Amino acid sequence: MVPISLLVGGKMALLTKRGRIKCCYAEKGEERLCSHDSRLCRDLRSELFHLCFRGAICTCSATPHRRPPCCEHRLCLGPASATGARFPPGARRSRRRAGAAPAPGGLEIPPVGSALRSALAPRTMGGKKVCVVGSGNWGSVIAKIAGANAARLSTFENQVNMWVLEEEVGGRRLTDIINTEHENVKYLPGYKLPPNVVAEPDLLKACAGADILLFVVPHQFIGKVCDQLKGHVKKDAVGVSLIKGVDEGPDGLRLISDIIHEKLGIEISVLMGANIASEVAEEKFCETTIGCKNMQHGQTLKDLMQTPNFRVTVVQEADTVEICGALKNIVAVGAGFCDGLGYGDNTKAAVIRLGLMEMIGFAKLFCKGPVTSSTFLESCGIADLITTCYGGRNRKVAEAFAKTGKSIEQLEKELLNGQKLQGPPTAAELHHILKSKNAVEKFPLFTAVYQICYEGKPVTDIIKCLQNHPEHM
Ligand SMILES: NC(=O)c1ccc[n+]([C@@H]2O[C@H](COP(=O)([O-])OP(=O)(O)OC[C@H]3O[C@@H](n4cnc5c(N)ncnc54)[C@H](O)[C@@H]3O)[C@@H](O)[C@H]2O)c1
Repeated sequence: MVPISLLVGGKMALLTKRGRIKCCYAEKGEERLCSHDSRLCRDLRSELFHLCFRGAICTCSATPHRRPPCCEHRLCLGPASATGARFPPGARRSRRRAGAAPAPGGLEIPPVGSALRSALAPRTMGGKKVCVVGSGNWGSVIAKIAGANAARLSTFENQVNMWVLEEEVGGRRLTDIINTEHENVKYLPGYKLPPNVVAEPDLLKACAGADILLFVVPHQFIGKVCDQLKGHVKKDAVGVSLIKGVDEGPDGLRLISDIIHEKLGIEISVLMGANIASEVAEEKFCETTIGCKNMQHGQTLKDLMQTPNFRVTVVQEADTVEICGALKNIVAVGAGFCDGLGYGDNTKAAVIRLGLMEMIGFAKLFCKGPVTSSTFLESCGIADLITTCYGGRNRKVAEAFAKTGKSIEQLEKELLNGQKLQGPPTAAELHHILKSKNAVEKFPLFTAVYQICYEGKPVTDIIKCLQNHPEHM
């Protein structure tokens, strides 16, 4: 029998030549016996037992694989008892302690965790190739997470490509720096990317054969990026937009996911949440929301993105999730104006509340699908709004705008080191849509942000807007 092992999260269950299953740490190609008896250890041991001795796995080739119909081989190993192998006594004891009910034959198979389930997913689902389209601040953090998960879960191909718009940093090409030092020194300095994240300057090469495309470029560039990609992505690829913003189409609002879907013809989900990139990079706890109409794909995407400190909830109302991600940046600009004018936390709370009311109102008016209040209680809703109004780049630039009187463009250059602002352009796009629908007066906060940024209205008008908000009339 060939040696069989199962690797999840740095731990490995190993079937020894003597037919025992032991749990080890797998570090730098070495095996070190694990003395813990955690849930993961137990899951690993029992799942390997199940695979080997219940006839679920085939060892007819050098690579153990699932039996038919998942594999095409016919020379599969017989059932467990034929091998004469024994189940490790420690593992049996541990499950008894956990109070699991015995399975037929006196063997107890505890429920399998999601990481393990996905590690063991049949090959038809397995080996999905992932590409991160974008390499800015958030794009690099997402590559860090997806890269680490792809390296440990067999559902995904180990290598994760990251499309990088080539530029020179300190006389060297950014892609060379990323591929040798495993750090995006321009957009995410100080954090290492997993070595299986490969920077690729050619967009088509980066995305070739990808099953999952994570779109994470500033929203003003997504149209051009998709135009280049048209006809070069797999038909059954699944896309995820992590882009916060909206666009304007002939019939009004166009979601970024709609643009990607229209141009590439693939199914698009979204990921939005209270996720300031630098904090996620530091692995400080936070939550996020995936909006995905296909719950099976939602689970695969969750497996790709979730970590102990980045918890993912999947909801089906994808359009609402996306609208939240775009509109909160406009509210954050309003919050930044109030900070710059020296107003306090009470004022900011009012901006957040009134902003949320306008976000809900806008979503109800313009989303094609259902819009329920519960989605606004997810990370993509109220949580993202709060964090952006306290910590994000839109708030920061708006505060400087109120304090210095410099233009938004100038401050974006001075303060953001090549990163892009989303709040002001989203306010402009929204304003055109509202005007065309004769709905400007229903959204005074969104309108005030637009007029202050682009029409020369004094920044103090933000307070007038709060005082006269229809919510108080
Ligand atoms: N940074 C965050 O905290 C954060 C969090 C959640 C979501 N997001 C969203 O993610 C998206 C991307 O943000 P980010 O922080 O990764 O990027 P960023 O703002 O850091 O932008 C810089 C990126 O834009 C690229 N770029 C510049 N000119 C370009 C062009 N002409 N064509 C294509 N790309 C070009 C640069 O190469 C670089 O990768 C945005 O929509 C943002 O709202 C950001």
